[in-house]
Amino acid sequence: MKVLVIGSGGREHALVWKLRQSPRVTKIYCAPGNGGIADDAECLPVDVKSVDSLVELTNRLQPDLTVVGPELPLQLGIVDEFQRRGWRIFGPTSAAAQLESSKSFAKEFMQRHRIPTAHYAICDSMEEVRSALGHFSAPVVVKADGLAAGKGVVICATKEDAAEAAAEMLSGKMVGEAGARVVLEECLKGDELSFLVISDGERVAPLVAAQDHKRVGDGDTGPNTGGMGAYSTPAIMDNAMRDWLVQHVARPVVAGMKAEGAEYKGILYCGLMMTAKGPMVLEFNCRLGDPETQPILMRLESDLVEALEASIDGRVSDGDFKWSPDATVCVVMASGGYPGGYEVGKKITGIAEAEQVDGVKVFHAGTSKLDGDYYTAGGRVLGVTARAADLKTALERAYAAAGKINFEGAHYRRDIAARALKK
Ligand code: AMP
Ligand code: GLY
Repeated sequence: MKVLVIGSGGREHALVWKLRQSPRVTKIYCAPGNGGIADDAECLPVDVKSVDSLVELTNRLQPDLTVVGPELPLQLGIVDEFQRRGWRIFGPTSAAAQLESSKSFAKEFMQRHRIPTAHYAICDSMEEVRSALGHFSAPVVVKADGLAAGKGVVICATKEDAAEAAAEMLSGKMVGEAGARVVLEECLKGDELSFLVISDGERVAPLVAAQDHKRVGDGDTGPNTGGMGAYSTPAIMDNAMRDWLVQHVARPVVAGMKAEGAEYKGILYCGLMMTAKGPMVLEFNCRLGDPETQPILMRLESDLVEALEASIDGRVSDGDFKWSPDATVCVVMASGGYPGGYEVGKKITGIAEAEQVDGVKVFHAGTSKLDGDYYTAGGRVLGVTARAADLKTALERAYAAAGKINFEGAHYRRDIAARALKK
């Protein structure tokens, strides 16, 4: 079968890499892809912000299955558009994707369905913000309602800072239209965990859990990013917790969406804070996480195509997945300046040497390829991903490999999974 993957990041490279292992897949396209994906799939230029362009491209390629990486095409209704045409596509409709594309929708939905989450207030004006802040104690989290590519959340130490952040969002200065409405939230403490399930609209099957590292600096310092690294091990979540999350979060979400007339198919990504009072949902995403997908798919031993088709065809079951007990780690190498401004076009060396390290695969994110050489083309450039029987060895491998790669301005966190290793 022919498969089309939409997107251009490390997540999409991992998807292409895993799909290639399926005995059923004979051809993979990726639109638009990146420098590394071009080695594993036929890349085609496309504007992922335009559903019309994606429809036109798909009509030309006639894939048997389309897999969407990023959230934007889902929010814009690519699944609705494909379903109308009878084309097979993995992911939620635009209405179902509101769980990610509108934080106020997600918060009110969680309240309606008694899904554990932080206290919140939804505000459309500074008057509402000022009066709502009276009901919060510092620190306060201020979030833009709409999609903001990871830049729409500010954790504020004081209420004054929170009012300032909300004003900047509401004025459109910080994240444009996405900030026209804001959500204030109580600040939760604990370890974050990414718990992803696959759904067919009714049933859910969990993937192995992963932990992302959102801040740019070691020790969780500096601004938030799209994610600077992630890891997955069997110890990250025990069976009792997994079952609790399926019962109290994933199933109620899928049942609630169905009851509200927006059947949820695809990946449901539950971003959790494991607080002293139990797990609380920070956010939902309607797609695979980046960089979580890299370590998660590296632990997947069964055929990914089977699992994706089970979601489309309404027959999801735990048996769709066979997982390795290995530990996997992804260290993201980023451009100098990221998550702020950065330059692109820096030559990257050492990728082949890095992949000589046992158990290592280098997934490309913001790269391009020219005359056989790779160049930086984005903020997050590479996801150096390693697998081993234990976390310590997987980390040693990932960092040994990252040490062989060079480009001007490259930086990466040195403490991915460090807290887990101490435990
Ligand atoms: P979100 O996009 O809602 O997941 O927010 C991005 C990041 O902000 C999360 O991964 C957390 O690190 C942090 N965050 C979001 N909401 C909260 C909260 N209520 N309390 C503490 N940290 C939060
Ligand atoms: N790594 C966080 C995300 O994909 O949203």
